Amino acid sequence: MKGWVVTGLFVVFEGADGTGKSTQVAAVSEALKKAGHDVVVTREPGGSVVAETLRSIVLDPAHDIDPTTEVLMFAAARADHIAQTIRPALDAGKIVISDRFVGSSIAYQSAGRGVDETAVADINLYATGNLVPDVTVVLDLDETVAGNRRVDRGAIVDRMESAPDGFQQAVRASFLAQAEAAPERHLVIDATQPPEAITQQVLTYLQCEHGVQL
Ligand SMILES: Nc1ncnc2c1ncn2[C@@H]1O[C@H](COP(=O)(O)OP(=O)(O)OP(=O)(O)O)[C@@H](O)[C@H]1O
Ligand SMILES: [Mg+2]
Repeated sequence: MKGWVVTGLFVVFEGADGTGKSTQVAAVSEALKKAGHDVVVTREPGGSVVAETLRSIVLDPAHDIDPTTEVLMFAAARADHIAQTIRPALDAGKIVISDRFVGSSIAYQSAGRGVDETAVADINLYATGNLVPDVTVVLDLDETVAGNRRVDRGAIVDRMESAPDGFQQAVRASFLAQAEAAPERHLVIDATQPPEAITQQVLTYLQCEHGVQL
């Protein structure tokens, strides 16, 4: 006899640099934990021992990494992240909240660096074993505002963030295009709103669209 098939909920936050992803990952996960849910908070690149090691290499401004290598390194980190962290948590029925996922590879390596989008998508289908987030929240913000927020925060500039002018605009446009291509699993949010308003919008969406109890 088959037992219950327990599947968790996979929620991803995407957006260009400084759009408020980490702020929302923290606030939304806190609210869900308070409501009694078992929540695993993670990030990309990283989220597992090997993937965090790859992160330290791929984001290090000291390295000159060509775009193809970059695509493969992010994908390798993602495969390990899924195998070690995401899949086990989802199989155990938990809510997984990740700061970035495949959408960032499409936005940064394809729209940003110019790698063929089909190639990036295909490599990631292989890396993820076709795991697609249930919800991808896209935090949409003008790149100048986002850049100023990061300066105010005193952020250290990594390899991806030191990319040339026009890069952040291309990244932003890609996230919006991805959401438009699959609106049923994306939630685009105006990230100029106060953090609390954004958190509430995400929670309401999870409640209405995925039956998450609050
Ligand atoms: N809705 C908001 N309104 C105003 N400021 C915000 C908002 N959300 C976050 N911030 C501030 O903007 C800065 C960047 O936020 P955060 O680090 O969450 O962005 P991020 O998308 O994770 O950035 P990165 O891409 O660098 O990881 C922080 O100083 C944060 O406090
Ligand atoms: Mg962040």
